[in-house]
Amino acid sequence: MLQVEKLRKAFDGFQAIADANLSVPKGEVVAVIGPNGAGKSTLFNLITGHLQADSGHIRFQREEITNLAPYKICHKGMARSFQLINIFSSLTVFENVQTSVLAKHRLDRNYFTPSRKLLIPETLEVLESFGLLDFKDRSCSALSYGDQKVLEIAIALGSKPELLLLDEPTAGMSSEETRKIVNLIKHLSQEKGLTILITEHDMELVFDVAQKIMVLHQGKTIAQGLPEDIRNNKSVQNAYLGEQNDVRR
Ligand SMILES: Nc1ncnc2c1ncn2[C@@H]1O[C@H](COP(=O)(O)OP(=O)(O)OP(=O)(O)O)[C@@H](O)[C@H]1O
Ligand SMILES: [Mg+2]
Repeated sequence: MLQVEKLRKAFDGFQAIADANLSVPKGEVVAVIGPNGAGKSTLFNLITGHLQADSGHIRFQREEITNLAPYKICHKGMARSFQLINIFSSLTVFENVQTSVLAKHRLDRNYFTPSRKLLIPETLEVLESFGLLDFKDRSCSALSYGDQKVLEIAIALGSKPELLLLDEPTAGMSSEETRKIVNLIKHLSQEKGLTILITEHDMELVFDVAQKIMVLHQGKTIAQGLPEDIRNNKSVQNAYLGEQNDVRR
């Protein structure tokens, strides 16, 4: 579904992405792991068009999307959540999700657009599937941190993507909130057939949900493959996993 080849991106001479390669098969959950500053969020920003690559290729469903505008990439069927929560704090929970449902139908949030009403059931359906229906009329800033992260994923799903990118979806969450996100990822993958690309520092979560793992180190892909192969890969252990006691259990 997604191919990244020899991708490079520098910031003022600093090579944040030096040689990233990634292949995401349709229907799988793929995790990108690597230490802080490895370039994971930068890679996501390049894939979704929020940053422009210096060189290399990104193909989505066999089509070249390198350096297209984010909204064009979104219309092709890709959506994302951000490492730092990115929701419309002045809008209600309902309005937040409706924004992406409207975008999917190429409409804006104009209160005088009659067709806006037609999308109310579609928006309610997304809210219900994320357990957010009871909060629909609340200001989203009144939600707990965990529910705001869930809302951000619901907003991403409002555009009915085929590929969902989640940048550290459980960062800062309690173990209960983390479990909710893990179940949500499994549900979206197994029941809805969504392809998911995720970055996470929580190795237990990564090895629980991912069918494939790519390891990024100093902007370079140093390995990608099945979780067991990654766990036993010597260069990965030296570069990264060796420091993480929890994955060697
Ligand atoms: N806009 C920017 N300008 C300059 N440097 C940047 C910019 N964005 C990222 N960097 C640098 O690029 C490197 C990779 O950052 P990035 O945020 O992609 O890492 P990460 O793997 O997502 O880290 P973390 O696990 O902490 O989220 C870091 O050294 C960071 O300081
Ligand atoms: Mg990051």
